[in-house]
Parts: sequence; C-alpha cells; structure tokens
Amino acid sequence: MHFSSAHEASRLQLNAQNRLRHFLTTEGLSRAQLTEILDTAEGFIDPVSGVIRNSPLLAGRTVMNLFFEASTRTRTTFEVAAKRLGADVLNIDISKSSTSKGETLRDMLWNLEAMTADIFVVRHGDSGAPHFIASQVTSKVAVINAGDGRHAHPTQAMLDMLTIRRHAGAFENLSVAIIGDIRHSRVARSEIHALQTLGAKEIRVIAPRTLLPRDFDNLGIKVFERMEEGLADVDVAIALRIQNERMESALLPGADEFYTLYGLTRDKLKYAKPTAIVMHPGPINRGVEIESEVADGPQSVILKQVNYGIAVRMAVLSLAMQGQLDQR
Ligand code: CP
Repeated sequence: MHFSSAHEASRLQLNAQNRLRHFLTTEGLSRAQLTEILDTAEGFIDPVSGVIRNSPLLAGRTVMNLFFEASTRTRTTFEVAAKRLGADVLNIDISKSSTSKGETLRDMLWNLEAMTADIFVVRHGDSGAPHFIASQVTSKVAVINAGDGRHAHPTQAMLDMLTIRRHAGAFENLSVAIIGDIRHSRVARSEIHALQTLGAKEIRVIAPRTLLPRDFDNLGIKVFERMEEGLADVDVAIALRIQNERMESALLPGADEFYTLYGLTRDKLKYAKPTAIVMHPGPINRGVEIESEVADGPQSVILKQVNYGIAVRMAVLSLAMQGQLDQR
C-alpha cells in the first residue's frame, strides 16, 4: 500500500476539525498537533514524583493490539497505557488467528470490530499496512501505527521528542545527531519529520552512504560519514539498531567494522557536548551500535524513553479516541 503524499496520509488521520482520529505518521502534522501530543503526555506525568498517573478517559473502551511483527517495548507499553486509561485490552495472537486459515485481513478486522473494538494498535512488516487498515475500518474505530515496515513509527518518534524536550530543552536550541542504519529505520524517518516540524536547530545523520536512503539529499539534513565530525558539539545523540532483518543485500562490511567506525563508544561520545544525552529506541545490540558503558552510563536516557512511552501512548490513545467521538 503506497500513499503518494504527506497530505494524503495526514488527511486520513485527521477529522474535519483537524484533530487526530488515527495516528499513522508524524509526516504532515503541524507543530501545534505534535505539541498537543507532547503536552497531553506531560499532563499524565506527576510534576513532582515523575510517576505516570492513571486516568479514566478510556473506561468502557476496548483496545486491540494487532502485532504482525515482534515487539517488546511498543506492545507492552501500549497495553500498560490502555489499562492506565481504564480500557479493556486484547492482545490478538496473529499466528493463531484465522488469517492462518486463509481469512483475509479485511474479514478479520470486520469481525474484531463486531467484538466492539474501539482502537486497533497495529504493527506490521509491510509499509502502509496501518494506512490500509485505517481505510477499511468504520468511523467508530481509531487505528494507531505501532511501526510499519521501513515507513513510520510515530509513537516512538513522539516519545523520543518528549524525552528530548524533558532532558535537553527547547528544540530550537538543539543539534540532534541520528547515527547508523537510517536507510532501514522507520524510527529515523518519523523522528526527522517530527524534529523538522518542532523546529530543531540542526538535524544531522551519521552513517555510511550504503545505510542512507537514496532520496536523502532532498530532506535538508546534514549528512556526515565520520563520527568525530557528526557528533561535534551535539546536544542529543540517537543510536539506531542495525536492522539485520531488513537488509536485502550486504550493505555493511560487518558488525565489527561497523562498531569501529560508527559504534557510540565513550571515546566517540567525547566529541558531543558534555551535557549531551544518549538515546536508542531499542532493542539494543550492545557492542554493535553502542558500547554497554554508554548505554548504561550517566548520559543515557534510554530507559526514560521506555517509561515516557507509556505517557505518550496514553496521550495518543486518548486523543485519537476523542477525535473519533468528535466526528460522529
Ligand atoms: N522501539 C521499539 O519499537 O521496540 P520494540 O520492537 O520492542 O517494540
């Protein structure tokens, strides 16, 4: 499934009042729309204790997790988020569903809707699958993209934006470097759109040419092939996972050489500002894209990212549900 433009994807995910009714991509959303997600997430976090508070906004609603691809962080934090909002949560075991007996995806969706689904949270290996599902469901169901192929991972991008705003400050003052396998990364794509829209001072990517998208020069990002130049004085360093499962050909010389050139080690991190924060969406390949001492070190906010994922997913679930109700 291919959506030809940001405008088309955004049109599908917004209601007549320009509010979210699905959340499929950060691309094409306005600064006000992204900021609303961040501010709503912030509202769930106790300002003194940092504890994420419960809220009954989805009481009586049913959230169904449809994960066609493996996940630890995203699936679990969506479940925690939905429960904290008072929803009933069903994790559909796709491998044991009737799609394995030949039922079409469309039929499966309509049956799940008949079981009173209000929100589908969808992860799929094919780019565009959540868009397709959003185009098939009735107006009573919201669809949240939990990561599709190489295309987008919008809730990961927004939890990363919340982490940056809380730990590094205002976007307009920040230089942000994204390191590693940009080409296969839905996270990088969604982060770049969000950082651009939120007004980041400078967005850099650090990668070998083979791990950059072919159309990358059009995006207005600064590209570096050497860590010491790309990391110089940055405020935020985001290491990406090497996506072995998405490599269609040998684009890397090998994990050892990648680590030597692009691994985020203590020595290389010294090129960034001393106050720089270190992020990684997970799952981490220690000793491939990041050194253990950096991942677990004082500049790392990697587990904060996971924790903020609950608040951001609570925000997205509640905003999309409200957007559905407003359009009825
Ligand atoms: N960051 C992320 O999407 O992790 P999972 O694959 O574990 O959900």
